[in-house]
Amino acid sequence: MRLDKYLAESGLFSRSEAGRAVRGGRITVAGEVVKNPSVHIAEDAEVCCDGKRVYWTKYQYIMLNKPAGVVSATEDGGRTVMDLLPPACKRLDMFPCGRLDIDTTGLLLITNDGPGAHMWLSPKRHVTKTYRFTCDPALHEEAVEKLESGVGLGDFTSAPAKVNLYPDSLSGEISITEGKFHQIKRMFHGVGSEITSLERITFGPLVLDPALERGQWRYLTEEEIASLRALL
Ligand code: URA
Repeated sequence: MRLDKYLAESGLFSRSEAGRAVRGGRITVAGEVVKNPSVHIAEDAEVCCDGKRVYWTKYQYIMLNKPAGVVSATEDGGRTVMDLLPPACKRLDMFPCGRLDIDTTGLLLITNDGPGAHMWLSPKRHVTKTYRFTCDPALHEEAVEKLESGVGLGDFTSAPAKVNLYPDSLSGEISITEGKFHQIKRMFHGVGSEITSLERITFGPLVLDPALERGQWRYLTEEEIASLRALL
């Protein structure tokens, strides 16, 4: 592929910035300065910018610890999760893989892997998502049993969830394999309680990195990407 395309798709530059960086002598390929942005290089070429290695990958994957108050969308009247990420993410057409409500916090995968996202979000794949919750009033035994066997919600009955209720009965963890609009809030409402806070802590094999503060993000590791791909 062209060198300027390689640099732009690595997320480092826009296409025109990439051209300028190349012409300015900042880019080496296999240790040699290359000043022609249209030169063709291999996908696994050793490319450096200012001496630092630049990696091209077909897709990018980011883990965001979503704060409350931002919308899980690429565009909206208000602040979206994309505003928390570097501008390159928009340039690379990255988008949130699924939606969390505006007041839900925690693990959100952001990627430009359309086929992957399609699979991971497919209801047929049953990818497990775990959420830490607080609720009011407290959940009693019978409510937990209902959540674990399926709650009738008018238009559908939820698939059995797994609930780990903490001793205060006002908080715990719930794992579901579906992702319908307001699903957990509706399930709790259906058993006589209301969610007062919700934080996603896993998405399939991904676990929310405790080192990420709310609003912080990092690239997925090779191992995390491989574990997601293994679901396909
Ligand atoms: N269930 C909900 O009710 N809200 C979310 O954001 C995620 C799951």
